[in-house]
Amino acid sequence: MSQHDVDIAALRKEYIRGGLDESAVNADPIVQFSSWLNEAITAEVLEPTAMVLSTVSADGAPSSRVVLLKGIDDGSLRFYTNYDSRKGRELTLNPRAALLFFWPELERQVRIEGTVSRLSPETSTAYFHSRPFESQLGAASSPQSQVIPSREELDQRFAALAAANAGRTRIDRPAHWGGFALMPHTIEFWQGRASRMHDRIRFRKSEGAWVVERLAP
Ligand SMILES: Cc1cc2nc3c(=O)[nH]c(=O)nc-3n(C[C@H](O)[C@H](O)[C@H](O)COP(=O)(O)O)c2cc1C
Repeated sequence: MSQHDVDIAALRKEYIRGGLDESAVNADPIVQFSSWLNEAITAEVLEPTAMVLSTVSADGAPSSRVVLLKGIDDGSLRFYTNYDSRKGRELTLNPRAALLFFWPELERQVRIEGTVSRLSPETSTAYFHSRPFESQLGAASSPQSQVIPSREELDQRFAALAAANAGRTRIDRPAHWGGFALMPHTIEFWQGRASRMHDRIRFRKSEGAWVVERLAP
């Protein structure tokens, strides 16, 4: 224990809020997920739609970062990003990905695995224009994931784009910016319980139907 004032290995918390039973989960894991998400929103969890997105490079190295869930449609989870970013390029080469939600206030975790596809240009454009003008400028002026010389250079790019679009309320969506939809094949709901005897209920798609199983904690 050299770098911390507290012994982080000794931090312990009992999970006592509730249980999760096979008989109580919805047969459709997307419906179950939506209901947990609504409970996280109602509980005023900070950033309830924040999720860790993990991608894998062409040579098999995983990487993770947070993105925001922007919709659940036709059984898939949507998010938006730069297609030329590290994650965007990795997903283009290898569409297999994982999402993770952690709602500590509810002692809940949801793990989702599946395959992504790009949203249609029309859907991406509609969402891009629903964002504040400054966010549109930010997305268009940042070469996400690339090395840049300085903060000043980034600010200059933003200012130049803002000046070029003075008086407008929207800009064209850059072709390299848009959405992905992750279609899950596995969704696991984790509910913290006392004595580390947590509940884990996993749904996995098998021949078009969801199979529900309990996993050991
Ligand atoms: C709370 C939070 C929300 C974020 N939401 C997004 C998002 O929706 N889309 C996005 O591209 N990056 C988002 N980011 C930034 C990413 O975590 C990441 O820094 C960026 O996308 C570059 O990742 P990459 O280089 O692996 O592609 C968010 C970060 C945080 C902390």
